[in-house]
Amino acid sequence: ALVSMKEMLIKALAEGYAVGQFNINNLEWTQAILAAAQEEKSPVILGVSEGAARYMGGFKVVTAIVKSLIEEGNITVPVAIHLDHGSSVDKCKAAIDAGFTSVMIDASHDPIEENIRITSEVVEYAHARGVSVEAEVGTVGGQEDDVVAEGVIYADINECKAIVERTGIDCLAPALGSVHGPYKGEPKLGFAEMEEICKTISLPLVLHGGTGIPTEHIQKAIARGTAKINVNTENQIAFTKVAREILTNDHDVYDPRKFLAPGREAIKTTVIGKIREFGSSNKA
Ligand code: G3H
Ligand code: ZN
Repeated sequence: ALVSMKEMLIKALAEGYAVGQFNINNLEWTQAILAAAQEEKSPVILGVSEGAARYMGGFKVVTAIVKSLIEEGNITVPVAIHLDHGSSVDKCKAAIDAGFTSVMIDASHDPIEENIRITSEVVEYAHARGVSVEAEVGTVGGQEDDVVAEGVIYADINECKAIVERTGIDCLAPALGSVHGPYKGEPKLGFAEMEEICKTISLPLVLHGGTGIPTEHIQKAIARGTAKINVNTENQIAFTKVAREILTNDHDVYDPRKFLAPGREAIKTTVIGKIREFGSSNKA
């Protein structure tokens, strides 16, 4: 069933696990992630970056694909369609109007007062329509589609408190050392800050840059209030590895399904592994 992230994240925080946000790029990605969640009886969040939505033909195409797959595939676990790193109030509104059940407004690059003003506007529009909202404070490093950051800036606890109190968001992504794309060396996450922020704001926290974080750190993050973990690059790597192998080894292949289907299977396997690691199996 298509739902917002609000209830799934409250439950996850209360019960000590995290729901995975897995980013989609096309039909096969969406099929793989929904199948994995259904098999694991896990709630799931389909992350859609603005770049991915453009690639798929627009927000309406995305919701049409997701809705049909849920219906035809008898997907009964809770599913949220979530705009990842929404860049403006207008983009968030357009996604909501197209049927997204959740949005992230990422005004983290703006000064906090501006971030709060923009986020409030999104919350007002979203909550009136039963849609959940995620906001970000600080800077996640690395690059994902249109979202590029030079350095990593840790979230300031007072800014986290202010944005929560003054906007009514449903969850917060405080940047605490995570990076989009592969990590260079071990990630250095601010666990003490994470714990303090969660205690102060009493909301589920979101961890961006889930690819390449060791299991032990994932468990530490969940124990400190992280209830949503975003994974994108890891599925891209899994798909492309399999597709590349097939294309390299068999030069006679011309039917794209010969590498798309095994690639899709690789994503499904990766997502099942993440769901188990995050502890959300059998929580649907
Ligand atoms: O917003 C999406 C995520 O933060 C994905 O990060 O590509 O490093 O897994 P990742
Ligand atoms: Zn992110």
